Amino acid sequence: MGKHSERGPRPQRGSERHLTAAAVAEVPAHIDVRELSVSYGEVAALRGVSLSAGPGEFVAITGHSGAGKTTLINAIAGIVPLAGGEVDLGRGSDASRDLETVAIIPQGNGLASVLTAYENVLAPLRARGHGAQVAAARATEALRSVGLGESGSHLVEELSGGQQQRAAVARGLALGARILLADEPTSELDHDNRERVLELMRAQADDGAIVIMTTHDPEAAERADRVVRLDDGEVLPG
Ligand SMILES: Nc1ncnc2c1ncn2[C@@H]1O[C@H](COP(=O)(O)OP(=O)(O)OP(=O)(O)O)[C@@H](O)[C@H]1O
Ligand SMILES: [Mg+2]
Repeated sequence: MGKHSERGPRPQRGSERHLTAAAVAEVPAHIDVRELSVSYGEVAALRGVSLSAGPGEFVAITGHSGAGKTTLINAIAGIVPLAGGEVDLGRGSDASRDLETVAIIPQGNGLASVLTAYENVLAPLRARGHGAQVAAARATEALRSVGLGESGSHLVEELSGGQQQRAAVARGLALGARILLADEPTSELDHDNRERVLELMRAQADDGAIVIMTTHDPEAAERADRVVRLDDGEVLPG
C-alpha cells in the first residue's frame, strides 16, 4: 500500500491549496481491482491484474507500449468490458461510478476541436450538473493552473500539442473527482510544464483524490507514491 493509505487524505494546507483546480468531492472512494482480465478479440490485453489504492495516493503505471496501461485505465473508468475479475470503486460496483467518482484524462487528449479550450473544460462540468457560475469559475481556475489562462478563448486546433495536453489536464482536474485517471498526461510537455502538471496531480491526491497516472517517463513515475509495472498485460512483481 502507498504511504498515505492508512492516514487517509492529508489535511488541506493553505499554501498549497491554490494548486488544486477544484476541491475533491468529499465522499472518499477506493480502487480495488481484482484479477482483472480484458480481451480485444484474440488479444489478451490484461491478464489477472490486481491493484488497490486509497484516498491520497498517487500511483504511476508504467510499461512498454502495448503492455496494457490504457486498457487498465479504461477498465477502471468502466469504458471497456471485463473478460474476468472485478473493479470495485467503493460502495458496490457500477453504481459507485456516480458523477463525482471518476475523471479521465485520456491518452491523445480527446478534446473537441470545434470548441475552444475553455469550452472543452466547461462542457463536462455543465454536463455533471454544475451551475453556470460554478462551472465557469472552475474552468477558468483549471486553465489558469495549467498556464493557459490567456489561451482559453482559442480553438483547440489553434493550440500547440503541449497546450492541448494541458487543456485536457485542466478538463480532468476541474471535475474534482475522487478518482483521477490520467493516461500519459505529460507525454507532450516540456520540463517546466511537466513539473507543473505533476504538482497538480500531487495536489489533487493531497486533497483526497486517488490519482492513477500512466507514463513512459521514469522521472514522472518517480514523483508518484509508488509505481506499478505492467508487462504484456500482467503486473510485474516488486
Ligand atoms: N481497441 C482495440 N482493439 C484491439 N486491440 C487493442 C485495442 N486497444 C488496445 N489493443 C491491444 O491491447 C494491448 C494493450 O493496449 P494498450 O493500449 O492498453 O497498451 P498501452 O500500454 O496503453 O500502450 P501505449 O504505451 O502504446 O499507449 C495491445 O496489444 C493493443 O494492440
Ligand atoms: Mg496507452
